[in-house]
Amino acid sequence: MTREIIDLRSDTVTRPTASMRRAMADAVVGDDLYRDDPTVAQLEALFAERVGKESALYLPSGVMANQVAIRSHCAPGTYIIAGERQHILTYEYGGVARNAGVSFLPLRDENGRFEGEIVAEKLMASGFYDQKVSLIALENTHMESGGKYWRIEELRQIREAAGATPIHLDGARLFNAQVASGQLASEICANVDSVMSCVSKGLSAPVGSLLAGSKEFIERARLERATLGGQMRQAGVIAAAGVVALNEMVDRLADDHRRASRLGEAIRSLVVVPDSRLSDIETNIVIFSVSNAVSFVEVLKENGVLANALDHKTIRFVTHSDLDEGDIDAAIDILKLIPQESW
Ligand SMILES: Cc1ncc(COP(=O)(O)O)c(C=O)c1O
Repeated sequence: MTREIIDLRSDTVTRPTASMRRAMADAVVGDDLYRDDPTVAQLEALFAERVGKESALYLPSGVMANQVAIRSHCAPGTYIIAGERQHILTYEYGGVARNAGVSFLPLRDENGRFEGEIVAEKLMASGFYDQKVSLIALENTHMESGGKYWRIEELRQIREAAGATPIHLDGARLFNAQVASGQLASEICANVDSVMSCVSKGLSAPVGSLLAGSKEFIERARLERATLGGQMRQAGVIAAAGVVALNEMVDRLADDHRRASRLGEAIRSLVVVPDSRLSDIETNIVIFSVSNAVSFVEVLKENGVLANALDHKTIRFVTHSDLDEGDIDAAIDILKLIPQESW
């Protein structure tokens, strides 16, 4: 039997499930600008409940949800404290400068996280330079560290250190954090003021992210979404898949995590390299370094496996619902074919 391409580039490659396609076909819709779309309203209410917030807003993408959150929290000329490798800092095309007129006070984010004490120090130091900090931003799970999740106690410490400064959570993969930590999304989000999460990644919906917070915050965000042209009309057609994503696709993320661990174990056994070259695997992302990431990705591709190079030495594999156990076996067999000198 010939196997299809094994796509380990990202969990964004997932396609809508049969149940999603049925829900999309049957969705009751209306013009969401008039707040007439019951399916969008259902998805927003469901997400708000899952993360324990008053209200939520449906947006086309995770980047837009983060940018809208920042515009809603931050006045121009202010600063955001965030980890130096977070998505909002490194992968959003300088969006915060263009869209909100703010800049960053970056922190070192070993394992994707930093301590409350460091935040407290940064806030204190900002006072010496008249730097107005308008937001603290966190990422959970943290992509560049290999999908690490924040421990609840660490989040509590950040909350304590933040005082009255709001905290925004980029929870693109929040439900991976829920499954890995055993803490409900609402418990995780009790320590933040706003949270965004994507239904379009491991949860397999075709489009969309949600932003949640207080009622007043979400009303502001609704206006900011409009200024970026992000409002949608009969969006219930895609929101219907989001409802299925939240209801049916969360618990199965455990399979993705187990499969990422299997890939990690195989990588560890195949190469004679120090452990530090492979990130500890906590969720669905495997990050490891090789001598030449570009040629490593090429060799994989020639053998039917797609992966991403994060930089010239770093490879990322992401497991997701469009892969099964056989795909992971096949990917491991292909890894075994790669000569030692290519690692
Ligand atoms: C941590 C994180 N935040 C935000 C985003 C942006 O999401 P989107 O691709 O839907 O804009 C991503 C996308 O990969 C992400 O990994």
